[in-house]
Amino acid sequence: MTDILQHIDQGVMTLTFNRLDKKNSITAAMYASLADAVEHAQTNAEVRVVLIQGHETIFSAGNDIADFLNHPPSGHDAPVFRFLRAIAGFSKPLLAAVAGPAVGIGTTLLFHCDLVYAGDNAAFSMPFVNLGLCPEAGSSILVPQMMGHHRAAEALLMGEPFMAEAAQEVGLINRVVPPTEVNSYAQAQARKLAAKPLSSLVETKRLMKSGQSAQIMAQIEAEAASFGRMLQEPAAREAFGAFMEKRRPDFSKL
Ligand code: COA
Repeated sequence: MTDILQHIDQGVMTLTFNRLDKKNSITAAMYASLADAVEHAQTNAEVRVVLIQGHETIFSAGNDIADFLNHPPSGHDAPVFRFLRAIAGFSKPLLAAVAGPAVGIGTTLLFHCDLVYAGDNAAFSMPFVNLGLCPEAGSSILVPQMMGHHRAAEALLMGEPFMAEAAQEVGLINRVVPPTEVNSYAQAQARKLAAKPLSSLVETKRLMKSGQSAQIMAQIEAEAASFGRMLQEPAAREAFGAFMEKRRPDFSKL
């Protein structure tokens, strides 16, 4: 069974995280599938809207830690960076349906979506500091821009989860629905968009984002350089080792 399900219907490409036994954590192979799909959606006239979704109990636990340790992303063309560039530059509407935990990139990818719907069990977190890392996906710009510096510092420096209600208050999500309904609700919204004139959707999105696109792409590159370096450093090694060994990390000497 593939870990990323892909389905196109009525102009909507739906991408579903399908790795429940590992909490939908994302391996390099999954990033490659996601990047391929979004790049394909960009050029395929049959696709007018893309929707990314998970399961009613979990959106995604973020990067697969074991895969990250064994195959750290290196270089511009690493699948994770290809995926980030694909969603950051995607010209058609991009939607997400989130239920349960959305960790790390599970949350930061949402800042590249146009509409986000969440179950009332959604828990968003960006625990990069707790993992000895730094923000990725342009989040070091996009999070403070959306939330203001103090709330962004709570999310990015403390790394604590925040729930759907708080996410709606800061503008990260559009609507909270029961977890069992979030995927179908988002699908219905995606279909409504897919029935609209694509040229108007694309032009409107382009105009909404035009002031910042180049800056975001540059920040994704800058963050990737720091993230890649920090992944090899002692703090991340300790954090990831602790996760694998199911113990608390000890940063007292780092
Ligand atoms: N990478 C690799 N494996 C992961 C994972 C990740 N990011 N997140 C969860 N898993 C695995 C666990 O190791 C466990 O595997 P096992 O059954 O072989 O022991 C399985 O998924 C279930 O995880 P568990 O922690 O028992 O589930 P939970 O429901 O108690 O908690 C989360 C769910 C998402 C809150 C928790 O798994 C978590 O915090 N994961 C790490 C998130 C993270 O730090 N991501 C990295 C961001 S860069």
